[in-house]
Amino acid sequence: MTDHAAGAIAIIGGTGHLGLGLARRLGRSGARVLIGSRDASRAHVVAASAGLDAAAARANPDAAHEADVVFLTVPFEGHEAMLRALGPLLEGKIVVDTTVSYDRQARAVVLVDGMSAAERAHRLAPGARVVSGFHTISSEMLADLERPLHGDVLLCGDDADAKNRVGTIVRDIGLRPVDAGALVQSRLLEQLAGLLLGLNRRYKKKDLGIAIVGLD
Ligand SMILES: NC(=O)c1ccc[n+]([C@@H]2O[C@H](COP(=O)([O-])OP(=O)(O)OC[C@H]3O[C@@H](n4cnc5c(N)ncnc54)[C@H](OP(=O)(O)O)[C@@H]3O)[C@@H](O)[C@H]2O)c1
Repeated sequence: MTDHAAGAIAIIGGTGHLGLGLARRLGRSGARVLIGSRDASRAHVVAASAGLDAAAARANPDAAHEADVVFLTVPFEGHEAMLRALGPLLEGKIVVDTTVSYDRQARAVVLVDGMSAAERAHRLAPGARVVSGFHTISSEMLADLERPLHGDVLLCGDDADAKNRVGTIVRDIGLRPVDAGALVQSRLLEQLAGLLLGLNRRYKKKDLGIAIVGLD
């Protein structure tokens, strides 16, 4: 029994690439997963595709309300509005922010006001226990349950207990968590994701990752 099995894990934007990959891996780990969407009917389709019960589908606010760990997997364009909408529902909850502030036109990570998305999440939902992570993990790799996983999940956050709990979830899906420091370090995680996007393009790959060498 995992220590997150008692509470639900919501995936906001769970109908997307990363959401589906996480849903499949979390579902296989035995976690109770809620797939969130702006339209619950889309969440139904993805819940089925992730091998979850149709009862796992929710509108985003309902998913956030029912869970005690909330993954935020929406594109950067929708990040701020989503946090403003969900803010009060996230009070006291662990929020795993995966967002990369990727500017499609510039083809680069552009940190607005120098802040990472996770720092912005902390500002917009001050009651949430924000942990930043999964930026360098490929959604394609997660979604294919036949594929062995590679790469470390670098986690940043100012709440040690929240970071530990997310670390347990990471281990449960078969990856290694690495404590990458305070929330402010999330700026680096986003930049690493930008680096990987470029590497994937140049080397015609889809699942390059980052692993820290020399750790036990
Ligand atoms: N893809 C990856 O490999 C990967 C890896 C690491 C981190 N990330 C980060 O994870 C986040 C999600 O990436 P993704 O590739 O999964 O994105 P995506 O597939 O393009 O979108 C995810 C979901 O977000 C919802 N959405 C779309 N636009 C929205 C908006 N303007 N406001 C609110 N919700 C919106 C949609 O769900 P509904 O229409 O059902 O609401 C969509 O299915 C991004 O911030 C990305 O930087 C991605």
